[in-house]
Amino acid sequence: MGKGFYISKTFGIVGIVLAAGALATITALPVVYSQEKSKNNEGKFTDPTMAPSNEPWDQWRLPQTLSPQTYNVTLWPRLQPDATGLYIFTGLSSVVFRCVEKTNLILIHSNKLNMTKHPTLLGLGSKPAPTIESIVMHTKTQYMAIHLKEELTAGESYELYTEFLGELSDDLGGFYRSEYYENGVKKVVATTQMQATDARKAFPCFDEPAMKAIFHITLYHDPATVALSNSVVKDEVNVTVDDTLVTRTTFAPTEVMSTYLLAFIVSDFVFIEQNMDNLQIRIFARQEAINAGQGEYALSVTGPILKLFEKYYNVPYPLPKSDQIALPDFNTGAMENWGLITYRETALLYDEEISSNENKERIITVISHELAHQWFGNLVTVRWWNDLWLNEGFATYVEYLGADEAEPDWNIKDLIVLNDVHKVFAIDALASSHPLLSKEEEIQRPEQISEMFDMISYSKGASVLRMLSDFLTEKVFTQGLQTYLDHFKFSNTVYTDLWEHLQKAVDSSGTTLPRSVQAIMDRWVLQMGFPVVTINTATGQITQEHFLLDPDTKPDRPSEFNYEWFVPISWTKKETEQNIHWLLQKTDLSDQMKTSGDEWVLANINVTGYYRVNYDNENWQRLLTVLKTSRQSIPVINREQIIDDAFNLAKAGIIETTLALRTTLFLDSETEYMPWESALDNLDYFYLMFDRTEVYGPMQKYIGNQVKYLFEYFTTLTNWEDVPPGHTDQYNQVNALRVACSTGLEACTTLVKTWFQQWMENPNVNPIKANLRSAVYCSAIAAGGEKEWNFAWEMFEKATVASEKDKLRAALACATEPWLLNRYLKYTLDPEKIRKQDATSTIVSIASNVVGQPLAWDFVRANWEYIFNEYGGKSYIFPNLISGVTNRFSTPFELEQLIQFRDDYAHIGFGSGTLAIQQSIERTTANIKWVEKNQQAVLEWFRNPS
Ligand SMILES: *[C@@H]1O[C@H](CO)[C@@H](O)[C@H](O)[C@H]1NC(C)=O
Ligand SMILES: *[C@@H]1O[C@H](CO)[C@@H](O)[C@H](O)[C@H]1NC(C)=O
Ligand SMILES: *[C@@H]1O[C@H](CO)[C@@H](O)[C@H](O)[C@H]1NC(C)=O
Ligand SMILES: *[C@@H]1O[C@H](CO)[C@@H](O)[C@H](O)[C@H]1NC(C)=O
Ligand SMILES: [Zn+2]
Repeated sequence: MGKGFYISKTFGIVGIVLAAGALATITALPVVYSQEKSKNNEGKFTDPTMAPSNEPWDQWRLPQTLSPQTYNVTLWPRLQPDATGLYIFTGLSSVVFRCVEKTNLILIHSNKLNMTKHPTLLGLGSKPAPTIESIVMHTKTQYMAIHLKEELTAGESYELYTEFLGELSDDLGGFYRSEYYENGVKKVVATTQMQATDARKAFPCFDEPAMKAIFHITLYHDPATVALSNSVVKDEVNVTVDDTLVTRTTFAPTEVMSTYLLAFIVSDFVFIEQNMDNLQIRIFARQEAINAGQGEYALSVTGPILKLFEKYYNVPYPLPKSDQIALPDFNTGAMENWGLITYRETALLYDEEISSNENKERIITVISHELAHQWFGNLVTVRWWNDLWLNEGFATYVEYLGADEAEPDWNIKDLIVLNDVHKVFAIDALASSHPLLSKEEEIQRPEQISEMFDMISYSKGASVLRMLSDFLTEKVFTQGLQTYLDHFKFSNTVYTDLWEHLQKAVDSSGTTLPRSVQAIMDRWVLQMGFPVVTINTATGQITQEHFLLDPDTKPDRPSEFNYEWFVPISWTKKETEQNIHWLLQKTDLSDQMKTSGDEWVLANINVTGYYRVNYDNENWQRLLTVLKTSRQSIPVINREQIIDDAFNLAKAGIIETTLALRTTLFLDSETEYMPWESALDNLDYFYLMFDRTEVYGPMQKYIGNQVKYLFEYFTTLTNWEDVPPGHTDQYNQVNALRVACSTGLEACTTLVKTWFQQWMENPNVNPIKANLRSAVYCSAIAAGGEKEWNFAWEMFEKATVASEKDKLRAALACATEPWLLNRYLKYTLDPEKIRKQDATSTIVSIASNVVGQPLAWDFVRANWEYIFNEYGGKSYIFPNLISGVTNRFSTPFELEQLIQFRDDYAHIGFGSGTLAIQQSIERTTANIKWVEKNQQAVLEWFRNPS
């Protein structure tokens, strides 16, 4: 799945733009989920409303008695409501399964399906099938239990036939409906999102990833619509059922695959296509979007990315077709259904005129991510969800390689450091983090499985696999990967299977490693967190220590490796080649790391390693000097790293906060995006903590001074009319504008006001450059009043491109008048105004605005019951809401409110946000301490920066 918790930049920046100065990209500390919650119940079924039992239907995992082989599934979604106003689908399914171990119980997943006929059982071998004694639906564990009078015989095959009816609801899970308007007409799409446990909402099935089978799919639909599924269409006929003419589309049997990768879609969408070596590549979307050419970019990059992966994996694309479709309502970013990938519109559709280069990057990375899964994940699938990190981490790592192939000028591979490594450090440095790997028995219930889709799985997974590929070399890494895929195709694995194949590749390549692949990786996979490596350039001593953001906390769980890692330290000195030093214990000595004179040491070159670096004070000073005088001798990625490491070391109390602030001094002559972005990200925390204090003024003045050079640089380069040539330059141009405007640089605010005014005078012609729109809209709405807000709202309602809608939706949260923000908050309760999929992110945007923060907090508390019922159960983005509305909290009074909130609503619950509440409490406690300790020094430094 694409990153579900992903907060797009558009949504991150809002509050700061307004409140503090357009600074950060992500304001909410992403939430780390964990299996904490299940700690006390050992993963066994312990729902308080039901007596626990050892009966198989009270267990969350299927017994190993039956093994599905093939399914024939026929579904008929009704895109018109029935007489009672309900949208439904009907279906019939037969599944052939083999009995592996004799049993008189058939346990098959089925959730929210009503059986319309008594299920029947047929024996396919020599023996007749046993008689069905009774059928019991277990709604908690989502099973249909079929009790038999006699036993099924091991080795024999049987066929179970069911007819059923389900609701085609708008809940974004299973078989569901998405609605949108085209030319004023409401249209309905029937579509699916099965991962992780919702195939059972579409038809009765053995819904576990290792229960692979072949699926014969048939869809009934209106002749004016098109039906899509994982495989190609085999047959299409018009038939009359109950006096209605319908089309019956039958699909070719799928490959052997997991249920969570199935997809069925009925819509009146249209497509564009391309052929690549007999492979049919199609992009589907709303007619309006396709006709406007918004699918072209996706179509043009898909071929090259698929080609790259065929080479990288050394396995041809496993299917005869590749469909990708953009849906108006979609819960996460995208879903890698085999052969029929589904996307949010913003993750697939690109409009040359309207979309920004950030939208473009999102599209290409999400496409690349989902295409990577077509092999890694779909062809070879992890056996159970506890190994999800391997699947998602891998796709997140190689999405950069695929994107780099299609856009070779972007240097996009560098950005993994900003977007994944340094982002996930923020949560993996908490005492409540969790290891990449969870125990299989701890991940059982649907909510526990949902919790696996977190930033640790995606971003830490990607970071450690990148480190592995780097120290093995890409050649050895891909060789092991290729034999792994070949060996396990169409079946399932555990993560150590990959290590074994990589080890073989290492052995046959003659590469030497200080330990086996498994031994090295165990330390990164089985224990949470990461080390900070301290290099003392006076003595040559190198030490590692578990890095914890809050030094007063202890990790929640013990580690069999005592929180020590095998660390590949790449390092360089002034004018020396890069070296690798393996740190294999807590402390080590290296004469090479000693320095003399103005010589400096820099470690973790290009941040290929998953660790932070600290130095003795003298080396820090020398690095600061180099940054000021000859920063080109430090690679761009490391200029970013120095800032990010310093700020976080300061936060952990390891170095002075003022030393961290000093790493931003060189920005007054820096034009590169990565260091700027990191500084703005890190300073965002200062804004959150201080934008309601006396620090605010001097801080604004300092940042305003630092950004002047950058603003002038882009003024000269583009005159604010041209688009800068470099991809990251385009990003930094936005930073320049945002920061300059929010710190009150007049040249900037005049520019922005003029553009917005021009647009309001002539709404049909938007004069604002696509890349700059988010920043300009926000600044203008913040500076404006009701007139500007209402205009932007009208434009939001009219916008037909999803990314443009998102920019306006985010910018509307930048208003500074409380009544406008309160009205906007109310809109999130009305799906006609704000789509359900967007409600929580809109509330978070409003909360990130210093004016909106207290309003959003009140709103969430007042409407908790509604919000929880709508979004709380399983939504992947729900925890963002909780951290989003509380992340400015830094006073004892706010802490009290938070605790009160937790206690007041305990009876309703917090669902997937349970842990987020606990983390918000922890974070607030840490903020209180940090502010007390640092406020004075920070105030003085901003008054007199040096
Ligand atoms: C499933 O469908 C295929 C193709 O239509 C057919 O050949 C097969 O007999 C069906 N199997 C069952 C169990 O109905
Ligand atoms: C399924 O049956 C239940 C209980 O009779 C009923 O409440 C529900 O509406 C039915 N679902 C559908 C989609 O008809
Ligand atoms: C089914 O009917 C529709 C509408 O009458 C027609 O456009 C389509 O070509 C027909 N399809 C087949 C396979 O006959
Ligand atoms: C570090 O990254 C830069 C930019 O991607 C690249 O040009 C350089 O070769 C890398 N350095 C090393 C030592 O890999
Ligand atoms: Zn994924």
